[in-house]
Amino acid sequence: MIRQVWPEPRDLSGHDLEELYRYPAGPRWLAVNFVSSTDGAIAVEGRSGALSTPADRIVYRLGNDLADVVLVGAGTAMAEGFEGMRPDAATADRRRRFGLAPIAPVAVVTTGRSLPADAPVITKAAVPTLVFTSAAAPLALREAWASNGARVFVVGAAEVPAEGVVSTLVAEGLGRIDCEGGPRLFGSLIEAGVVDEFRLTVAPFLVAGTAGRAAAGPVVEPASLELASVLTDGASVLLRYLAPR
Ligand SMILES: NC(=O)c1ccc[n+]([C@@H]2O[C@H](COP(=O)([O-])OP(=O)(O)OC[C@H]3O[C@@H](n4cnc5c(N)ncnc54)[C@H](OP(=O)(O)O)[C@@H]3O)[C@@H](O)[C@H]2O)c1
Repeated sequence: MIRQVWPEPRDLSGHDLEELYRYPAGPRWLAVNFVSSTDGAIAVEGRSGALSTPADRIVYRLGNDLADVVLVGAGTAMAEGFEGMRPDAATADRRRRFGLAPIAPVAVVTTGRSLPADAPVITKAAVPTLVFTSAAAPLALREAWASNGARVFVVGAAEVPAEGVVSTLVAEGLGRIDCEGGPRLFGSLIEAGVVDEFRLTVAPFLVAGTAGRAAAGPVVEPASLELASVLTDGASVLLRYLAPR
């Protein structure tokens, strides 16, 4: 049982969780999801799986079930073995009830260095993966992504500006954005000022190691977030923070 401890203490049904984690109406809502060990690591041996907990899996799933698109950096797509979304019956039902397309596409950000033409996120996806890149990515690679089934968007000259990625997703009608990392992508989204919500699971592990934290990139002026909810199943703590509007 997942219980809300803030703002008002209460037990949460599946319906309550959907209402808490649904994306607000509007042209854009970008929610970033991370799980962290209690000592601040976001990966163990290069992957986040060891940090996953039952409560985290519930909110992680709500994040992508209720989104138009799942946004990741190339590092995460490769490290985590993304292969596109494969809705089971419960997800299909949830997406139907919320008026969403049957399958959320994955969008991957890359300058071309870390996303091979035959990346499973492209070749194994059930619906075309969106690749956001720059004109600096070799033309042959861009053509190979496309011929392997991806939709390729060139949104920058050398870098891939995060605001260009997000505005293109919104223009494509994919404004409910579930960003599943990783740190470099999250850092660029923070720098661009396009994060609406940060969803952080604090998982009950101490792991030490050298893994970094959720966001990496240039330091930005600290912006105060507004605490939206604190949930727990008695083991993990599930935080939702909103960016100032
Ligand atoms: N605990 C969690 O919840 C969680 C979530 C996600 C990831 N992770 C972990 O994070 C690690 C991966 O870290 P990471 O920093 O490599 O992740 P990442 O941000 O997913 O990937 C970095 C790569 O993505 C591309 N990229 C990201 N933002 C970009 C931008 N604005 N413009 C252009 N390209 C951009 C670049 O690819 P190119 O090199 O191709 O240019 C960059 O090298 C893995 O260990 C993974 O397990 C943990």
